[in-house]
Amino acid sequence: MLRRDFVVLGVSALSLGGCAGVRYVAPRASPGRLVIALADLGDDGQAFVQTPDMQRPVYLRRLASGEIVAVLASCTHQGCQPEPVADRLACPCHGSEFSFEGLVLQGPAERPLTRYDVTEEGGDVVVWLAGRGAA
Ligand code: FES
Repeated sequence: MLRRDFVVLGVSALSLGGCAGVRYVAPRASPGRLVIALADLGDDGQAFVQTPDMQRPVYLRRLASGEIVAVLASCTHQGCQPEPVADRLACPCHGSEFSFEGLVLQGPAERPLTRYDVTEEGGDVVVWLAGRGAA
């Protein structure tokens, strides 16, 4: 293998790090809500949900307790997109880390991620962007 080939392979592997397995799901959007099929969380219990007009996706995660949580995947430090790494969300820009519920575990971010109410309705997961029951 030529040195040049090694460098190209190395960069490709780095660019996939952390988020290679998380699927993006296009929701059925209605005013104030994002709706996806429960099955879209998949076996790993997570997904990014994004519509074309959203600057950052919402990250959905089923916790060990069974509860599904949803946070805006926009770092409260300077707006980069945190990615799930092991048991937390890690921001690739300056190293902030958040729990899946959005709490700050490590700065420089000082504020939690925006968290949304989530309900399960039949075979769907509903993310309430404007508060539960708002339409
Ligand atoms: Fe996330 Fe700076 S933008 S740590």
